[in-house]
Amino acid sequence: MTAKILVVDDELPIERLICQQFRKKIRAKELEFVFAHNGVEALDKLQNNPQIDMVLTDINMPEMDGLTLLEKLKEIEPSLKTVVVSAYSDMANIRKAMNHDAFDFLTKPIDFQDLEVTINRTLGYVQELKETQRQFQQVQTRLIQKEKMSALGQLVAGVAHEINNPVGFIAGNLTHAQSYINDILNLLHLYQQHYPNPVSDIQEEIEQIDLDYLVEDLPQLISSMKVGVERINQISVSLRNFSRSDTSSKVLANIHEGIESTLLILRHRLKASAARPAIEVVKDYGDLPQVECYPGPLNQVFMNILANAIDALEEAMLKEKTERSPTIKICTEVLEGDFVEIRIADNGVGMTEDVQKQLFEPMFTTKATNKGTGLGLSISRQIMVEKHKGQLTCSSKLGWGTEFIIKMPIRQIKKV
Ligand SMILES: Nc1ncnc2c1ncn2[C@@H]1O[C@H](COP(=O)(O)OP(=O)(O)O)[C@@H](O)[C@H]1O
Ligand SMILES: [Mg+2]
Repeated sequence: MTAKILVVDDELPIERLICQQFRKKIRAKELEFVFAHNGVEALDKLQNNPQIDMVLTDINMPEMDGLTLLEKLKEIEPSLKTVVVSAYSDMANIRKAMNHDAFDFLTKPIDFQDLEVTINRTLGYVQELKETQRQFQQVQTRLIQKEKMSALGQLVAGVAHEINNPVGFIAGNLTHAQSYINDILNLLHLYQQHYPNPVSDIQEEIEQIDLDYLVEDLPQLISSMKVGVERINQISVSLRNFSRSDTSSKVLANIHEGIESTLLILRHRLKASAARPAIEVVKDYGDLPQVECYPGPLNQVFMNILANAIDALEEAMLKEKTERSPTIKICTEVLEGDFVEIRIADNGVGMTEDVQKQLFEPMFTTKATNKGTGLGLSISRQIMVEKHKGQLTCSSKLGWGTEFIIKMPIRQIKKV
């Protein structure tokens, strides 16, 4: 990476001298210099070059002097490191600058060897600072996500639990309702057999309510209610399965069940809409044994990958209007050495090489702000690598599609 240095000095020869002194590093793209001739110009240049790593500034300059510039920089960009330069006789101002958080100072006439050492030292410090900041941010996102996930998991499990009881009443009562209705219909039938010519009031009411239709429709109505209740039940089981909070230790779980639960939760996104056809999910499940894992977090990984695949397919359909039918393919198999592999592929937009290099970085997203957080894959990789001693990798071709590959041991600790 090229380090960028803003040099502020009103004496023109400095520009030429610096370019000469550092020409090798400039050519090797290790260093890049931006020049300004007073404080005002420096602030202007800084605005147009947000990637500046350090500032080297003279103190005595027209329009805005170095000390004022230092003050302003502290307000605009507190993390920017500034080295001040002034005559040895100007020690009072140098001291002032140091008291105002200048990182270091050099005296004029500039000793270029000293300048190089100072630049290296400052850039080294800036680099370290950046790395610490990056690590801090990474830890922070993990913590936030962990909190969010556990809160969400608890909420989902709670809702599923709450739904369970009322669904239980409805399912139980429906069975009784069905048998009572059958009895009443039989009785009605008997009446009709034995009293084929009822009085005119009854005759009228029969026509009014369209009795023949009711008798035919009622049993169908009940069975369709039963199907509905069964579906709610399945969703509730899936939600509980999905958010399984028994995750303080690893348990033996059926991977296919986890994938199925996740697909059920994503069902509304797979269905056809006005804008696009349904996404077909093709499954090629191998004969997997129970796998030792944390089912909740593992399902979260499936969820992240599948949701991304759906996004990629939607984007492809929006962009290209292709004839290809949108498909997600899920394959599972046992690998040699007691591993399982789960591959989830889509024929969506695919990724550029550049995106592929970064997609596991926290906060990396190519989606609109209200859509993507850029956390899904970094968390997923962390779950696979740190929690399951496994791997999560990706291969993709722009315009063709993407495949994510999960590989993990069947047993976490091998028995010897
Ligand atoms: N199946 C996929 N097809 C194409 N690009 C993908 C796919 N999965 C992930 N990506 C890319 O990786 C980026 C990071 O994904 P992720 O970490 O889940 O964050 P987010 O989905 O919030 O953007 C996405 O913004 C996208 O550019
Ligand atoms: Mg995502």
